[in-house]
Order: sequence, then structure tokens, then C-alpha cells
Amino acid sequence: EERERQQMRKALDLATKLFHYVLVSTKHGRIAREYLENRGVRPETIKEFQLGYAPSSFQFLLSFLKARGFSEDILEKVGLITSWERGNNKKFYDRFRHRIMFPIHDSQGKVVGFGGRALGDGHPKYLNSPDTVLFHKRNHLYNLHRARSHIRKNLQAVLFEGYMDVITAWQAGVEQVVATLGTALNENQARILRRNAGTVILCYDSDAAGQSAAMRGLEQLKSEELTVKVAQMPAGMDPDDYIRRFGGTAFKEEILATAMSLTAFKLESFKKKYHLQDEDQRMKYLSEAIEVIAELPKAIEQDHYLRRLAEEFQLSLDALKEEQRKATKRRK
Ligand code: GTP
Ligand code: MN
Ligand code: MN
Ligand code: MN
Ligand code: MN
Repeated sequence: EERERQQMRKALDLATKLFHYVLVSTKHGRIAREYLENRGVRPETIKEFQLGYAPSSFQFLLSFLKARGFSEDILEKVGLITSWERGNNKKFYDRFRHRIMFPIHDSQGKVVGFGGRALGDGHPKYLNSPDTVLFHKRNHLYNLHRARSHIRKNLQAVLFEGYMDVITAWQAGVEQVVATLGTALNENQARILRRNAGTVILCYDSDAAGQSAAMRGLEQLKSEELTVKVAQMPAGMDPDDYIRRFGGTAFKEEILATAMSLTAFKLESFKKKYHLQDEDQRMKYLSEAIEVIAELPKAIEQDHYLRRLAEEFQLSLDALKEEQRKATKRRK
């Protein structure tokens, strides 16, 4: 219902403004301000991203918005408050408490939900708005409305895992950056990226979770029109850590510019499963590598990777080509 949606949008707007005000201008926001300052987030970045702070209270946002005429029903539907029931007594309270608030905008720049990060080591580390009639997580990418013109200009989108990766990159002058909302990349998000970019660089954390998410992301993005690459973070780092330590220019030159092709990334990550000093294991790896290469649509690409394998393992290119032909036949 249209009136209800309008109310919901208005509640989200007011919540954004209130959280931001609390963060930047009140004594209640001091700990959160210091937290962001320690993470290197500058005041103008806080303003640009409309970051906020939700205080530790159970009734802060609820009483503020109720006083402005919003019903508990609307506030619950838009995911700003939750409730618990005992018998026939229903109690409402703020969903986000003692958290740094990241407003999530739709592609037109309207706030549709929030991500909230616990200060310190509260659990869960990130809490997102639930899906609502205005907010379907699978249709959104964090920062898309700001990044879109930069993605088009650079013919390139960089996809991160986290909100903080986006913010730190943006602040350091890397602006073609978006992130998924704490879930695996899905078909809808892949379509959005394809519509806007010629190349997508996946830049996930170096931990195991990040690497397997990258592998799944690659499968989603595979398509004729799009070049997909994978950037590798040094061990133990995520893009936010890296950029804070080495800066945006180093990130562009050392990380983005050296991103691997889809095939190179697959070959590298399969390699990690085998002990290559062992002859049997080495042969198994080579068979798996040849399967990957046989999937490639273009003969010149196949040739390129076969040559690399031949060189790396001191094998004859002819023998590898023969195996690849067999693999191709098996696939048909
Ligand atoms: P910082 O610790 O603040 O630097 O966050 P991070 O972005 O580096 O976190 P991490 O690499 O652990 O997670 C990446 C992204 O996954 C986050 O930005 C969130 O969107 C999401 N995420 C992480 N932890 C949780 C969680 O506990 N619940 C949910 N729903 N999402 C999470
Ligand atoms: Mn701009
Ligand atoms: Mn991680
Ligand atoms: Mn991370
Ligand atoms: Mn991080």
C-alpha cells in the first residue's frame, strides 16, 4: 500500500538523520566517534556515507519516532524495531543498539535499510535490517548509487565483502567500489554488475571464507560480455586493512592491476589442494588443470594456459595439448 511505503521511507530517513546526529554531535556518540577515528574514517567520509550511531537504549529510536506519529506496526514492518511477546503482552524495542550504523541506499539513493556494526566485540558483529517490502537484500549492492558513475567511467567495478572495505577504498580515491550485504553474490547482483561494468574485480578477504566466496562469486558472474578477475590480498588482510596501511594508489597498482583471470585463479586455488613435490599428486593436479583449460571457449586462451603449465612443470606442450584434446572430447 502506497501510503504505508511512504511512511516507511520517511521513518528510514528520519532514523538515518537521527543516528548521524547522535554520532557526530552528541556526547552519547563519543565512543562511536572515537572508534571510527581509530579506524581512520575521516569526518567528511562519515558525512558522505551518513554513518551513524544507535545508542545502547531499547527505546531510543522507538520513542523518537512514536512522538512523531509513526505506529509501532510501521516501524516493525520497516525493520527498525522488533518485539517479543509474553502471553498477550507484546513489547517493542529498538533493533539496533550500541552499533555503528551504515545506511544502505537503493540505486536512486533512497535509504532502504541499515547494516549495524557492534562496537568492540559484541555479537553478532554485523546486524542487518531484515528484508522488508522496501528492502530485498538480494537486489542491492552497498554503495551502488555512489559508485555507478565511477564504474561506468572506469569500465570496471570492484566487489568487496564488507561495508568498511567500501568506505576506506572510497575515502582513498578508489570509487568504483561496491559490496554485497553479508551474503554470497547472487544472480540479481551479478546482473546489476554486468549492466554497468565491462570488468568486475572480486576483491575478497584472504581468509578461507573470503576465498570460497570468491570462487562462488566467479560462477555467478561468468558470462560472455563480462571480464571477471580476482584480486589477492596479502595473508591476514582485507581491503580495508590493506588500504589503511598502504594507501589507495598502492591498492590500485599492486592489487587491482595484478588481479588474476578467472582461469589463473582457479588453477592457483586447485594447486593448494595438492602436494606438488609428490609425483602422483602433481599428475592429479595437472589433470584437474587440463579440465579447467578444456572448458575455455577460445583456442588462444587454451594455448596460453597450456604454455604456462608446460613451462611451470617442464613438460612438452604437445603432450599437454594431447591431454586437453582428450578432455575436450570427454566433455562432449
Ligand atoms: P570489520 O571487522 O568491521 O572490519 O568488518 P569486515 O567487513 O572486515 O567483516 P568480515 O570480513 O568479518 O565480514 C564481511 C562482511 O560480512 C561484513 O561487512 C558484513 O556485511 C558481513 N558480516 C560479517 N559478520 C556478520 C555477522 O555476524 N552477521 C551478518 N549478517 N553479516 C556479517
Ligand atoms: Mn562522484
Ligand atoms: Mn572475512
Ligand atoms: Mn573483512
Ligand atoms: Mn575488516
